[in-house]
Amino acid sequence: MTASRLNGVRYAIRDVLKEAKRVEATGKKLIKLNIGDPNAFDFDAPEELRKAIREATELKENGYSDSQGLLLLREKVVEYNKTKGVHCTAEDVFVTTGLSEAIHMLSAALVEPASNVLLPAPTYPQYQAVTVLHDGEPRFYDCLEGEGWFPDVDDLRKKADEKTAFISLINPNNPTGALYPRKKLKEIIDFAGELGVPVLSDEVYDRLVFEGEHVSTASIASDVPIVTMNGLSKNFFAPGWRCGWITLTGFPDDSLKEGILKLCSLRLCAPVLEQRAAIAGLETIDSWIGGYVEKLRKRRDLLVKRCNEINGLTCVKPKASFYAFPSIEWSGSDEEFCLELLRETGVLTVHGSGFGGKGKHFRMVFLPSESVLEEAFDLIDGFLKAKRSL
Ligand SMILES: Cc1ncc(COP(=O)(O)O)c(C=O)c1O
Repeated sequence: MTASRLNGVRYAIRDVLKEAKRVEATGKKLIKLNIGDPNAFDFDAPEELRKAIREATELKENGYSDSQGLLLLREKVVEYNKTKGVHCTAEDVFVTTGLSEAIHMLSAALVEPASNVLLPAPTYPQYQAVTVLHDGEPRFYDCLEGEGWFPDVDDLRKKADEKTAFISLINPNNPTGALYPRKKLKEIIDFAGELGVPVLSDEVYDRLVFEGEHVSTASIASDVPIVTMNGLSKNFFAPGWRCGWITLTGFPDDSLKEGILKLCSLRLCAPVLEQRAAIAGLETIDSWIGGYVEKLRKRRDLLVKRCNEINGLTCVKPKASFYAFPSIEWSGSDEEFCLELLRETGVLTVHGSGFGGKGKHFRMVFLPSESVLEEAFDLIDGFLKAKRSL
C-alpha cells in the first residue's frame, strides 16, 4: 500500500519505542532516557514565551502568516544572528515548522537522485532518513571519540565527490554533546568552499553550552554557502510548538532561496502563535537561559561521574546539548545491549549504531533529575555486574 521510497527509511530514536511500549505493558516501570524532550522532565518553556502565546490567542492571531514567516520574527533572527557574528537580512531567513521541516525542505531542494550527503558519524538520524527519502545516499564522515568527538576532516575530504549535495554539521552535537572549536569549523568550511557545496549547520542547541563558546559556522566565512539552522525545540524548551528558522548566507545566487520559498508556499505557513512565541523567546533568552544551563550542568556532571565510575562504561564529557554518548564494553551489538537493558531494568536508551556510529555506544539524555539519574545508573551498574558474573 505504500510507495517504495519508504522502504529504506529507518528512525532509530522512535523505533525503540515499540519494544518500550511492550515492556511497559507488562507493568514494568520505565526510566525514559531515550528522547530529547525537556518537557517530559522538569523543564518547561519560559513564561515569556507562554505569555506571548496567550496574548496572540487573545488578539485572535489565528490566520495564516507570510509563507516565509512573520517579518518581525525574521528581523529578530537577523538580530540574534548578528550577536553570533552572522550578517544577513530578513530576506535570508525562512521560518519553518520545526527544524524537521527545514531538513525536509533543504533535502527536497538540494538532493538529486544518486547524489550523496555527507553526515557526521554518529549523526542525528533524521538527516539519514530524509536523505534516503529523497533518493540520496547518506555518506558518513567519522567523528573521533578519542578527540572529543570532533569531525575527522581528512575522512570528510575522502568521502566527498562531485555528487556531494551538501555537508551536514551538527554543532553542538546530538548525540555526542560535542562543541566544535573554531579551527575545526574553519577547516570544514574551507573544504566546502573548495568543493563548492553548501554546509548545513544545525545549531539548535547553541545556547545549551557548559564550557567554551559556541561558534556559529557562518560567522567564519561570508563567501561559503551556509545554512544556519535553529528553532524553539531545544534552546527555548518548546519542542511541541514546532517552530524553527533557517538563514542562508554566502550563496552565489538566489536559486536555493527561491526553491525554499516555493516549498514554504506549498505548506502555506509555519504555526503563527508559535512564531509570536519565538519573537518573545529571541527578545528574552539572555535573561533566562542561564538558569536552565546551570540545572543541566549539574545533571551533566553527575552523569559523567557515574558513567566513568562504572566498570564497562566510559563517557566523553558532553560540552553542550543534553545528550551523552557513553561507550560500552559488551560482547553483543549495542542494539542488543539497549534491548536487554530495557527488558531487565526498564532503563530506556537508544543504541549508538542507530545514529550511524562505529563501535558500541548508547545515547542517553541528562534531562531527568539527579535522583532519577542516580537510580538509572544504579540499575545500569547492577545490570553490567550481573552480566559479567554469568
Ligand atoms: C540536531 C537536531 N536537529 C534537528 C532536530 C529536530 O528539531 P525540531 O524539533 O525543530 O524539528 C533535533 C531534534 O531532536 C535535533 O536533535
